[in-house]
Formats: sequence, C-alpha cells, structure tokens
Amino acid sequence: PTIHIITPTYSRPVQKAELTRIANTFLHVPNLHWILIEDSQRRTPLVTSLLRETGLNYTHLNVETPKNFKIRGDTRDPRIPRGTMQRNLALRWLRETFKNNSQPGIVYFADDDNSYSLELFEEMRSTRKVSVWPVAFVGGLRYESPKVNAAGKVYGWKAVFDPHRPFAIDMAGFAINLKLILSKPQAYFKLRGVKGGYQESSLLRELVTLNDLEPKAANCTKILVWHTRTEKPVLVNEGKKGFTDPNMEI
Ligand code: UGA
Ligand code: MN
Repeated sequence: PTIHIITPTYSRPVQKAELTRIANTFLHVPNLHWILIEDSQRRTPLVTSLLRETGLNYTHLNVETPKNFKIRGDTRDPRIPRGTMQRNLALRWLRETFKNNSQPGIVYFADDDNSYSLELFEEMRSTRKVSVWPVAFVGGLRYESPKVNAAGKVYGWKAVFDPHRPFAIDMAGFAINLKLILSKPQAYFKLRGVKGGYQESSLLRELVTLNDLEPKAANCTKILVWHTRTEKPVLVNEGKKGFTDPNMEI
C-alpha cells in the first residue's frame, strides 16, 4: 500500500529546518505520498520549492485557521486545536481523490516536528483498520502506550493524563487504512468543543472501537516515534528592524 502522510505546517523561523528534517526521513520510505497542508492564506514559495526539490511524491494544500473564530459574535470562542483544519482538509482530499478507486493505502498523521524511525512506516503498512503503538514524550511521561493483553488485544491506555479518554493516544500513535476512511465519509476531527487531549478520540471514535485496534511495534513494547518539540531560536540580536538580510530564506 501507499502510505499517505498528512502533515499540517505553519510559517515560523524553524519551519524549513523541520520540513527538511522530516523530508529526509520520508526519502527513505518506499511508496510514500506526502500531503503537506499549510496553515496559511496561500501556498508559500518556501514550501512550494522545498517540496519540489525533495523529489518526493507529494500534494501541496493550504487552509488558514481563522485567527479569532467567533460563535455568534459575543461568545468567546474555544481555540481550534493546532493542525485540525489542515488534517480535515487532507481527509476530504483523500475521499475526493480515491472515491472510485480501490488503491490500497494507509493514512498517518505526522506533525512536522516529531522524530520518526523508519521501522515505524514498515509497521503501519499492514494496518487493516487502525493500528496503534506507543509514543515517547507525551502526557508528562517518558512514553504513553496502549495496554495490550496476552492475547494481543488492546484493552486500555497506559497514561496519567485523563486515561479515561476513549482513545488516550497522541496523533503520532496510530495509522488508519484508507478504505476505512473512505467507508466513513462523515468522520473528521471535531473543530470545536474538544477538550485538550480529546482531538484524536474525536476522529477515532467515528472509525473504530477499542476491540478493532491492532497493536504494532512488537505488541507496543518498542518506541518508534518521539513527540519531540523544537526550541524556538533566540533572535534578539535582530532588533526591531532586523539585522540580517530579510531576503535570505532560512
Ligand atoms: C500536540 C499533538 O501532538 C498534536 O498532534 C496536536 O495537534 C496538538 O498537540 C494540539 O492539539 O494542539 P504539539 O507539539 O503541542 O502537539 O503541537 P505542534 O507540533 O505545535 O502542532 C501540531 C502540528 O500542527 C504541527 O505539524 C504544526 O506545524 C501544525 N500547526 C501548528 C499548524 O498547522 N498551525 C499552527 O498554528 C500550529
Ligand atoms: Mn509538536
């Protein structure tokens, strides 16, 4: 199957570094299609040329998260979680593109700042419905993990932060068979009224039950993905007007 990787991204000083780093990872993965969705009004020249120069098979989309999204004017709006509108656009794109097409595919949500082992992509390739595995550096732990019993079934979640979430798993901890996404055309990430940590559940509960989950990474005993976060660079010496050449792309 083709692995469709869905990555939301937004402009900031480290963006090109992040995208270069994950593109270098993806270049080692056979049969990969990268759907990169910019959180911006337009597709930017930086991302456009970066994608072209990688030589990867890709689709470049964009949708801007509204800055202050208001419900009926006066109510203070809950924050739209990061990358949510972008991931939903990619889901819609997949449904439109593959509606009359039975090409085997796997869908994985890969944020631009995490660290991915190559083994992870081989593990997810055999996903029948939804596969799951541990993710390092989430929920205030060294790692969070699905709980797997002796029969190889997922029966709960090894997490401290709200372990009673229907799916207490980070975005980087699961992959979905494309057929399942096509067969449930109403399934999207909820945009509003989603408490912190419930975003993943808002999609997964539309697609599967706990009983359907397929543990990977040696029954969830191996870490193949790290929820790393990149430190913001210190740019104090740029001053108010900027010191370096603003036309230099970084
Ligand atoms: C955690 C989860 O791992 C994310 O999957 C989840 O979207 C996020 O929390 C959330 O619910 O807010 P975290 O490291 O805090 O991740 O989030 P970021 O890595 O900053 O953002 C997640 C993705 O969205 C990244 O690919 C980032 O480039 C993108 N993003 C972030 C945007 O497209 N727009 C933004 O304004 C911010
Ligand atoms: Mn992140």
